[in-house]
Amino acid sequence: SVPVALYHENVLDHYENPRNVGNLDKKDKNVGTGLVGAPSCGDVMKLQIKVDEDGKIIDAKFKTFGCGSAIASSSLVTEWIKGKSLDQASSIKNTDIAKELCLPPVKLHCSMLAEDAIKAALADYKKKQIPKDG
Ligand code: FES
Ligand code: FES
Repeated sequence: SVPVALYHENVLDHYENPRNVGNLDKKDKNVGTGLVGAPSCGDVMKLQIKVDEDGKIIDAKFKTFGCGSAIASSSLVTEWIKGKSLDQASSIKNTDIAKELCLPPVKLHCSMLAEDAIKAALADYKKKQIPKDG
C-alpha cells in the first residue's frame, strides 16, 4: 500500500472530508445523472452535474457506495469539473485522477469509476437536451 506520508495534504483531505456529497434534482432538465458500477468489486457511484445555458458545469454532486479511493476520486472530480465546459469535463482521464490521488495499481478501477460516472452524467445531460417529438 501507499504510505500515508506520500499523500499530498490536499489529497488526503479528499478522503477525510469528501466535497460535494449529495443530490441534484434528477428531473431538472439541466441536470445530468450518471450511475455506474465497478464489476470487480460491486461498488457503485452516482455523479450529477448541473449545466448552465452557456454549456458550463455550474454544480456537481456525488453519492458513492464504495471504498475510500472511490469516494476520494468522486470528491476530486466534482471539484475539477465545476466551471468546466462539457468537452473539458469529458476529457478527464482516470489516470489523471489516479495520479493526483497517488492510487496504487490495485485501486485504478476506483478512479475508472469516476471517469465512467462523468461520461454517464454528460451523456444523460445531452440526451435530455434532445427535443422530444409529439
Ligand atoms: Fe468493496 Fe471497494 S472493493 S469497497
Ligand atoms: Fe472498488 Fe474502490 S471502487 S475497490
